[in-house]
Amino acid sequence: MATRSSPSRSSGGGAARGASSAKSQIVAMLKADHKKAKKAFKDFEKLDPHEDPESCQALVEQTLAEIEVHAELEEQVFYPAARGAIKDEDLMDEAEVEHMTAKVLIEQLKGMGPEDAKFAATFKVLGEYINHHVQEEEGEMFRQLAAKGADWDAVLAEMTSQRERLMTEKGLPMESEASESRSAGASGRRSAGAPRSSARGASETRPQASSRSTKSSSDKP
Ligand SMILES: [Fe+2]
Ligand SMILES: [Fe+2]
Repeated sequence: MATRSSPSRSSGGGAARGASSAKSQIVAMLKADHKKAKKAFKDFEKLDPHEDPESCQALVEQTLAEIEVHAELEEQVFYPAARGAIKDEDLMDEAEVEHMTAKVLIEQLKGMGPEDAKFAATFKVLGEYINHHVQEEEGEMFRQLAAKGADWDAVLAEMTSQRERLMTEKGLPMESEASESRSAGASGRRSAGAPRSSARGASETRPQASSRSTKSSSDKP
């Protein structure tokens, strides 16, 4: 019932299954990102920016970088495909506006550090935004995606390759490396050759460090 002028409803059961499994993999990938981000916001609540500024900074930096990768994948690849596979296009407009709003907070956070009075509050509010956004995606958008509304195999391939590129660009470890380093103790040791994630420890090697020096102009209302 949810088919908008689907181009070719072929009877090839195999092809249909392939398409639907690519769609499931995409949804699973996005949900895994959501889960990780939600956990990061929860972990942040247990930290005290005054007592442990390094851990706070590291957690925020890594979380922002991961959210940026996720948002870019959605905006560049997934949302355009989803638009053609969904009944309620207003959902897509709302999601894009929510991304824009979240980015304002992300940019503010990049210019702040744990010493800033509003650092924790800004990150917390970002978490609330993200939680709301995730509910809409998982509760509405993902459920409405028609199996044949897009070439999900191509979308999955594009998302996978873009993801690798973006994670490398941001110095984030690939999933396999991340789980390796978690099982190896997760205290600053990471595989040689991987671009260094700013997430563990050192507060001086942040990828977006340049924006910090201009923070005073923007963090006063
Ligand atoms: Fe998402
Ligand atoms: Fe999103």
